[in-house]
Amino acid sequence: FRSASVSVIVLGASGDLAKKKTLPALYGLFLRGLLPAEAAVVGYARSDLSRADFHDRISPNLEKVDGSSDDSLAVFLGQCHYVSGQYDSSEDFAALHDELIRLEDEAGASESGEAHRLFYLALPPKVFASVSATFEPVAMSQRGWNRVVVEKPFGRDLASSNELVAALAETFTEDQQFRIDHYLGKEAALNMVVFRFANLTFQPLWNRNYISTVEITFKEPFGTEGRGGYFDEIGIVRDVMQNHLLQLLALTAMERPISLSAEDVRDEKVKVLRCIEPLTLDDILIGQYVANEETGKPGYTDDDGVPDDSRCATFATAAFNIRNERWDGVPFIIRCGKALNERKANIRIQLRDTPGQLFGDAARNELVFRIQPSEAIYLKVMAKKPGLGDELVQTELDLTYHSRFPCETIPDAYERLLYDVLRGDRSHFVRADELEAAWRIFDDVLHKLDDGAVEPLPYVYGSRGPDAADDFVAARGYVRSGDYSWQASSQQ
Ligand code: BG6
Repeated sequence: FRSASVSVIVLGASGDLAKKKTLPALYGLFLRGLLPAEAAVVGYARSDLSRADFHDRISPNLEKVDGSSDDSLAVFLGQCHYVSGQYDSSEDFAALHDELIRLEDEAGASESGEAHRLFYLALPPKVFASVSATFEPVAMSQRGWNRVVVEKPFGRDLASSNELVAALAETFTEDQQFRIDHYLGKEAALNMVVFRFANLTFQPLWNRNYISTVEITFKEPFGTEGRGGYFDEIGIVRDVMQNHLLQLLALTAMERPISLSAEDVRDEKVKVLRCIEPLTLDDILIGQYVANEETGKPGYTDDDGVPDDSRCATFATAAFNIRNERWDGVPFIIRCGKALNERKANIRIQLRDTPGQLFGDAARNELVFRIQPSEAIYLKVMAKKPGLGDELVQTELDLTYHSRFPCETIPDAYERLLYDVLRGDRSHFVRADELEAAWRIFDDVLHKLDDGAVEPLPYVYGSRGPDAADDFVAARGYVRSGDYSWQASSQQ
């Protein structure tokens, strides 16, 4: 695409997603020299803004992008345009099309005959289908590819997700659609496939004979402050578990793909998702945070728009069983929550006890993919403590990104994924059948939770979550052993 003109059209350009994620990611690509100088970024929204107003609105978030300078920002803004219009107006989209033709021709499309368009729908999913049906007939490029990026929530259950998929399929082919799950663009998550299939070390161990549990953890140290009304309709299971964390699970558990082609990789993900037994209420524990008297942090129901008797989960732990010969009986546990004690996302693969224990109680080996913050992959091992004694010590083989790859800056997940859209690489996007397989696992349990079948366990804002969550995990075989914990700071 670098030799041809490309336009990136951000529909919903004045919204939060565009300002905080999409536009900074495009700027990040520009700073890396990966967004062609001829590319136009065109914001489209209802607000009647001048181009200068648009620049003023987006600049504060752009200035925060790593490597930004006044000069580079000025050049990038020179590529950023704005068109205002309604989302239900063919005339307004036809005017957008005329502006795109003008920009594309200016960038040399009339000579090269090539002009590609990437439409980023930074809009609420409930309008995806109607907006697409309005712009598709009038605003698509006739001189190159058209790709459409959409983002969750893709429905709120299996039926509504299927409806949304079917509605978009009336306008776009599956190949034109890029469903973003930004966890697939996180650097350490991308390393899972490489680590598993480019190293012999772990391959023979990667199964139920050697692995005792897999735990995928997502913690955030802040609550829903300000978003409570919105979150109450969603809950933590739909917000991060059914999508981001299940995707990490699929990468950890899938079989080796036939090749690295997008379809081969996604085929394997679908296959493993379809082997997961649908969750029942016995497989899940939910919690909701309450105020912390010491720090003065509010409880979930103190948020405006949240009913006092809300049973919405802001914390959940669920155990999944994968019914295939590699994994049957190995609990895959996903644990996630808001208003917890720290920000952390990781995948922890715990091996079984070493048979025959020559050294007494050696702690179990654990391979940990630390997704964020401070990306790292480390293997917890036992070693001899240096010295004249015979003691053992728990330590790690460590691949901490900032010390092993000091010259590399780690791209933001959106940056990586937008680059893939521009290159036409679909591997890290969610295919329709994958989405369906993911919803199928949660559908029944979500309906029951929506009906208020379970009262969430209270936990204090800033704590580790409900105590019962530790018992839930321990009851499924996870052993917390040794007192050693990996320290990001010791590596700096
Ligand atoms: C979003 C969720 O999809 O992911 C948010 O809606 C959550 O609630 C966010 O905070 C987490 O993403 P990240 O990249 O900050 O870990």
